Amino acid sequence: MEHEDPRNGESPHRSSKKPKFSSNYIPESEIRDEFCHHQPRVARINNGSFGSCPGSVLAAQRRWQLQFLRQPDAFYFNTLRNGITASRMIIKDLINADHVDEVSLVDNATTAAAIVLQQIGHSFAEGKFKKSDTVLMLHCAFQAVKKSIQAYVTRAGGSVVEVRLPFPVNSEEEIISEFKKSITEGKSNGRKIRLAIIDHITSMPSVVIPVKELVRVCREEGIDQVFVDAAHAIGSLKVDVKEIGADFYVSNLHKWFFCPPSVAFLHCKKANASSDVHHPVVSHEYGNGLPIESSWIGTRDYSSQLVIPAVLEFVNRFEGGIEGIMERNHEQVVKMGKMLAESWGTNLGSPPEMCTAMIMVGLPSRLCLNSEEDASRLRSYLRDCHEVEVPIFYQVPKDGEDGVRDNDGCITGYVRISHQVYNTLDDYEKLRDAINQIVKDGKTCKMLCIE
Ligand SMILES: Cc1ncc(COP(=O)(O)O)c(C=O)c1O
Repeated sequence: MEHEDPRNGESPHRSSKKPKFSSNYIPESEIRDEFCHHQPRVARINNGSFGSCPGSVLAAQRRWQLQFLRQPDAFYFNTLRNGITASRMIIKDLINADHVDEVSLVDNATTAAAIVLQQIGHSFAEGKFKKSDTVLMLHCAFQAVKKSIQAYVTRAGGSVVEVRLPFPVNSEEEIISEFKKSITEGKSNGRKIRLAIIDHITSMPSVVIPVKELVRVCREEGIDQVFVDAAHAIGSLKVDVKEIGADFYVSNLHKWFFCPPSVAFLHCKKANASSDVHHPVVSHEYGNGLPIESSWIGTRDYSSQLVIPAVLEFVNRFEGGIEGIMERNHEQVVKMGKMLAESWGTNLGSPPEMCTAMIMVGLPSRLCLNSEEDASRLRSYLRDCHEVEVPIFYQVPKDGEDGVRDNDGCITGYVRISHQVYNTLDDYEKLRDAINQIVKDGKTCKMLCIE
């Protein structure tokens, strides 16, 4: 028998059995196929807003929809509840919940906020809370959640205290310190803080918040309940609800977990005990516990809740499954963020360890981005004239503060870039070049013309 020479690497004999590039993981070409419904040429670097759903999961969704339409009654009586329970079981394991009864599937984070805030609103309306009592939230909480607070809390007589998020941010300690200051303000004049709403990953600007630490602070300070708005969390960072220890924790599954729109999970600690927590859409199951109430809120399409096993199959085609995807997205978004900041002579909005698959990158000050209108004009210009989809953040300079500067002035605008499995280097180069071109042409945001 021929001897193998280790200097030659793998012997031809062995490699014929095991081809050099063989891998059971999904190849690039299949990733492209899975997302071939995306509009060609568009540099889609905004997975954060609406997520993305691969073709194989859309096909599974279609099968569920047809199964319902084929024999709706049989589907309703024999299939639907079991299918939703199977999905809830998967989520329970993924987030390390104690029991499947703690996990409800709802439409989105907005619905979850309504569920949590409705019970707070009832307590104000029914006189269980004093009118002066308060709810604490980050000043950059998602606008829909802020409106929900207005609808359920302020309207019922409660007050709101906002925690200012330092940005650009350098460390978790900066956030913890601001949070503690706002708790002191919230508790002034004998008021009680009835609920703290903490984002796990803020939307705009995007920063990972030290949520476990903040929940601990809330407990120490005697805050009644804590709701973590983690709309962006699952699929972009590891979620362990036991470790975080909040009363309520919501994450969309259609953002970073490849579900079709729309589905989110809401984890309620000791769900059975919190019997006053209800779905705002009341149907036959009212009073049977939130997970069951949520599993039937009238006739509608429940397929996005049923495809979670198909999503699991999809992510397991990648090396390391969802954890591998998260790790690579993080690495790539940091790399792309640094590449852009270097080319534009600007900065990142947070240290890499305070971001997941989204990162904020400063825009050149020569763009003169001085208002929300400038931000939305630039965003539309990039979409319409350069086929680049990316959200833009306007950083209002604080009184008396100079802020971060580039060579020409103060940085007042940031892009929020995302990275998901379908993104390629070209996407970010397109953004880089578009911005550099505007600067080279001597244009400011106000001068951008969108036909
Ligand atoms: C922090 C945060 N909360 C809530 C939401 C609302 O999510 P949805 O529109 O899916 O309800 C978003 C959406 O981007 C978000 O970023």
